[in-house]
Amino acid sequence: MNNTTIRQIAGFENQEVTLRGWLTHKRSSGKIHFLQLRDGSGTIQCVAAASDLSPELFSMIGFLTQESSLAIQGVVRADQRSAIGYELAVRNISVIGSSVDYPITNKEHGPGFLMDHRHLWIRSTRQHAILTIRGRISTYIRNFFESRGFLNTDAPIFTPSSCEGTTTLFPVDYFGEQVYLTQSGQLYGEAMAKAFGKIYTFGPTFRAEKSKTRRHLMEFWMVEPEAAFMTLDEDMELSEDLLVEITTRVLAECRKELQILERDISALEKVQKPFPRLHYADAWKKLRELGSSIAEDDDFGAEDETILTQQFDRPIIVHHFPSAMKAFYMKKDPDNPRYSLSMDILAPEGYGEIIGGGAREESLETLVAAIEHHKLPMQDFSWYLDLRRYGATPSAGFGLGLERTVAWICGIHHVRETIPFPRMLERNRP
Ligand code: 4AD
Repeated sequence: MNNTTIRQIAGFENQEVTLRGWLTHKRSSGKIHFLQLRDGSGTIQCVAAASDLSPELFSMIGFLTQESSLAIQGVVRADQRSAIGYELAVRNISVIGSSVDYPITNKEHGPGFLMDHRHLWIRSTRQHAILTIRGRISTYIRNFFESRGFLNTDAPIFTPSSCEGTTTLFPVDYFGEQVYLTQSGQLYGEAMAKAFGKIYTFGPTFRAEKSKTRRHLMEFWMVEPEAAFMTLDEDMELSEDLLVEITTRVLAECRKELQILERDISALEKVQKPFPRLHYADAWKKLRELGSSIAEDDDFGAEDETILTQQFDRPIIVHHFPSAMKAFYMKKDPDNPRYSLSMDILAPEGYGEIIGGGAREESLETLVAAIEHHKLPMQDFSWYLDLRRYGATPSAGFGLGLERTVAWICGIHHVRETIPFPRMLERNRP
């Protein structure tokens, strides 16, 4: 018997195969049962006709319930009305696992109920499409960096110190010593860039943000390239190329999923180089003109990002943020130290920041002063300072938040649907 998957069904026209999956929907019209079978790779209609089957089997099929797991044997028939071009003429069905009172039905369910049932919700068509795109984007990102000679390395999850400020740290008891879950792999990435030249880390990142917004998760995935000798301009170009690559590949290879999500394809087609680049001071002026009450040298709020990105049809790069608002490692602009060699990329259509990065301070003295200024424990950074003691170089990189990127590409409102099991301010289960 040919065990196959729905994705591969075209290779079995007029042959008998066995498909294994879950029953999503059943409809009966007297002498025929129509079953929708889902196997993760696709969905196919299976037609069980009374004339082809024993009365016992036909009757048993009539009692099958939503989300029972089944093995269905049948003959693959071409069918022009089918979305996938084929249906299965059923010869036999066996139940592998029954399903009684599946909680997610065709009725409207609220987000709280669906999040409580996230372990089941991920089976639904829309969630399947979003998480499929997420998986593909991860692969496109890896392929992009590999093709440009970046080595994939891993940063630790337990860290003794903060990278992105001390207010969002998750403390962990490490055999009596307090350590933290990583906020960013960057500092380790810098060490590895000095060993391998160009590297990227791609892993989970943790921030205890007391923000209950559609853009914040407590646990998210970040890809962080870092390259020795890279300048801020090269860093901006690299991030721009990455976003063009992601959107191009999604448009070419994830059409079916975008269609399920009813994504406006034309908005993604506009993601072409060059992205508009704005100095922070110009972006700030524009925001004030557009009615924002942003204070001098303040960071953009979500509302500011929305207003600003609505002015453009593609992602924008804002660079040279005020040094005062940036982390201790950020290099100041030698021509005007009020501003830093930093950049953020804001996604269009109101999505806002998806990338943050910049050039790193390379002078030992300046970095020591910055660590003191930020009141960080010097002893925890002595290894990081070694990178300036032994062969310091210019270094730059960025972090791209996977969930925010997936939300934008998929055109969905909230990041909670872009990760299989989201961790949010008020949710850490299932
Ligand atoms: O701008 P951030 O804080 O940059 C860094 O962590 C740098 N150390 C990266 C680097 O240069 N290597 O975060 C980078 C990105 C943001 O642009 C955003 O996409 C994502 O990480 N991000 C979050 N995504 C979801 N939930 C949160 N709470 C996030 N915080 C940041």
